Parts: sequence; structure tokens; C-alpha cells
Amino acid sequence: MTTQKLSFPENFWWGSAWSAEQAEGRGETGKAETVWERWYAEQPYRFYNRIDSSITTDHIHRYKEDVKLMKETGHNSFRVSISWARMFPEDGVGAVNPKAIAFYRDLFTEMNKAGIKVFANLYHFDMPAKLQDKGGWESREVVNAYVHFADTCFKEFGDLVFHWFTFNEPLGPILGSYLEDFHYPNLIDFKRGAQAAFFTILAHAKAIEAFKTHGLESKIGVILNLSPTFPRSQNPADVKAAEIADLFYTRSFLDPMVKGTFPSVLIDLLKTYDQLPDYCEEDLQTIHEHTAQILGLNYYEPRRVKARSCAVNPDSPFLPEWFFENHIMPGRRMNEYRGWEIYERGIYDLCMDIKENYGNIEAFISENGMGVANEERFMDETGQVIDDYRIEYIKDHLAYLWKAIEEGCNIKGYHLWTFIDCWSWINSYKNRYGLVSLDLPTQRRTIKKSGEFYKKLSDENGFEYEVDWLV
Ligand code: BG6
Repeated sequence: MTTQKLSFPENFWWGSAWSAEQAEGRGETGKAETVWERWYAEQPYRFYNRIDSSITTDHIHRYKEDVKLMKETGHNSFRVSISWARMFPEDGVGAVNPKAIAFYRDLFTEMNKAGIKVFANLYHFDMPAKLQDKGGWESREVVNAYVHFADTCFKEFGDLVFHWFTFNEPLGPILGSYLEDFHYPNLIDFKRGAQAAFFTILAHAKAIEAFKTHGLESKIGVILNLSPTFPRSQNPADVKAAEIADLFYTRSFLDPMVKGTFPSVLIDLLKTYDQLPDYCEEDLQTIHEHTAQILGLNYYEPRRVKARSCAVNPDSPFLPEWFFENHIMPGRRMNEYRGWEIYERGIYDLCMDIKENYGNIEAFISENGMGVANEERFMDETGQVIDDYRIEYIKDHLAYLWKAIEEGCNIKGYHLWTFIDCWSWINSYKNRYGLVSLDLPTQRRTIKKSGEFYKKLSDENGFEYEVDWLV
């Protein structure tokens, strides 16, 4: 075995990420109802242990303490999201909320004073409920309201933010709300989902267009959840299935948001099945002209696909699965708590794809991480979670990221999901992802062993690793 220090480029961004709805708590600033609050009020039984987003990690009250913890766990950068519902408490439109501006300005100032770069994301699944009633991302009116919100943020926080992001995982709400029943309003309707996806992409382009008028030094981009797609075998039927899955789940957002164009094969396929959204030439022009300047890559698991083994029920709703089946690879390693495969080499494959097919755009790993249930099992007598599994997970992924950088990928940083354990949507606090543990009843924060490891990693800008693993 050869042990080697894997060193990362100078000024590498070491940090983590979370989002407003998952960490802030409602607080007293005033905030419009979000779709998550609405859904909980209607169907509390869909949420693990019936925990809603009203308190979560209570960051709204504890942000000063939290910034200190960022420092103690080695952060030189951190991604937050700015809550649209807090900024515009009259249902996402109307007058801007001075208390929200004061909160975010104070938080960002504290971060900057501590030497932590602010990565600010504008939308992380948290639509104001009344805007959802107007059609959510299916509505042009909502696109315009979002652009106004984005423009307000550029104006109010532009001097404090290092890099901006229009969306986190825009595919997530499309899958959840229109195809797979894990986001409000829980429809199964591909064509409406395609419309919402198209308008999300248009909103991204229009926000970038607005951003350019502010003359800021920062960049603006998008954060996408990308899984490299692998066919079960080289059999042409499996390869074709994988290509189609990749079109639906990867190229659908990546191409227009980064290259400014939609994959023609995807357009043809949707046309054939009468699933194309409505749009006009001017929309296509806007999307073409205003693309991401920086790309965040959320990587958790690979996508493995095979040709369908049975015919589609013609009476079932149109879904991407009409063209492939998921493949369970024999021997795969799983994070059983979340049901996601752990395949660290996938981070390398993903970065190489961006290098080779997306102009090697400036990018960083914006999420990667391991959610584990009942982590109190791993507490020592002092109450610290001894999460060696998370340290291994981080090292194994970073080693392949290092290899990608060695081979020329333009990767500027690594952000873990997440900082302090936070609220995981319908899974609420079931799986814990943090470098810092959270005792829910007391809100006590305790740095995990992984948090100490992360500090050392960031201080030394690298770590020792058995490089023979890197095939
Ligand atoms: C990402 C999201 O998909 O994965 C986060 O950006 C999310 O918001 C994270 O929390 C982990 O997934 P989950 O469903 O376990 O919370």
C-alpha cells in the first residue's frame, strides 16, 4: 500500500451547505407560508415523526453561535439559501421585508468577518404557497415574481456575497411534484412537469440577465444534482436505455442552463409523445444568452439503468420509466438509511463529463454527504458522535475528486451536506448528515469527530490516503 498526501489547489473552498427551510426556523421576522408548511398542515403523516419546519435547527436565533462553529469546523465558505417567503412575506410578492434584509445582512457580515465566503442560493424547494396556488413554476407570473426577488437580493446583499446560485437542484421539485409524489402538490403529470421545468430554466436565465445589470464582481451559476448514468451492460438495448435516462435526468437541465440549448433528441422524444411545454422564440433566445458562469455539482449516487424487461401499460401515465428500468448492480455498496448507493468513483466520472462536454466550466462539489439514522448510537461518554464512517466517506470521495483535478478538471472546492444536522423534508430529522450534531429538544450543538477531521483537512488543505485504491 502506498500512502500519499493528497493536496488540493491553493484557496480551495472547504465548506458545507444547507437551505433556509431546512435550518432557519420560522422566527419572528414575518414570513409567507411555504409549500412545506402548507403540506404539513394538510398531511402531517407524510413527515417522519411528524416534525415540521417551524423550528428546525433554529439558525434564525443562533446564527452568531453557528458562525463560530463554522470556523471551528474549518469552513472558509458556506452555502445558504435566501428565503423568498421571508424576503416577501406577503405571499412572495409585494413589499420587501426589512427584518429579513437585516437578518441576512447581519448573518453575511458575521460570516465575512470570520473569513467565510458567502455562497448564496436563491431557491431551494421553498415556494411561497400562494404562488404555488397561481401555478408555481408552471406560471409566467411566478417566474416574474422570482426574478424580482432575485433582483432585490442582488441589490441588498451584492456587497456581501461571494458567489450566487439561481437554483439548487431544479430537477428535484419537478420529480417530487409531478412525477414521484414527494413534493407538494403531489401531482403525477409529466406534461405539466415539463412546463414547470421549462419555466424554471427560463427563470434561471432571466435572473442571470438581471444579475448582469448590477456590475458585481461575484459570479452567478446553478447547483445541479447530477448522477453519472451507467448502463447495466454494453448490450445496445441497455446503452440506449441509459442514454434516454441521462437525457431526462441530466441533460434536460445541464444543457440549457450551462450551454443555453436543449438536447435535440430530448425535444424529438417529447414531441413524439406530445409532452412538449409551451414556449416562444424569445424564451429560447433568453435561455441561450444567459447561462451559468459557475456550476455546483451535487453528487450522492450513480444512476444504473437497463432496458425494460416488460411492456409499458399504455393506460399508465407517461413517465421517463417508459424507456428504462433501474438496475440493481450486484455487489453494490449501499447507504441503507437513505437507500442510496455509495460509489465514490462517480464523483470523478461526473467531473470528467463536465470537463469534456461542458467546456470545463468553473465548478465545485456543492453537495456530497452521508445521512445516518440513530447516530446517538455512536456517541461516546462525552456526547460526541464518533462518525468514522463519515470521515471514510468524505476521504474516499475527495480522493477521486483529487484525481479529477490532477487530470485537469476545473474544480474549485468541496462543500459537504451538511454543517449542523438539519431538517430533511419528509424525512425530517431521521437521517443526520452534519459535521455538528443537534440535540433537538435542547438545540445543543456538539462537533462530531468528522467536524474535527474537517478542520484539520481544511487547515492542511489535504490528507493522507492509500492511493492504490484509486482505480
Ligand atoms: C439534496 C438537497 O438533494 O440532498 C438537500 O439539496 C437534501 O436539500 C439533501 O437535504 C439530502 O437528502 P435528504 O432527502 O436525505 O434530505
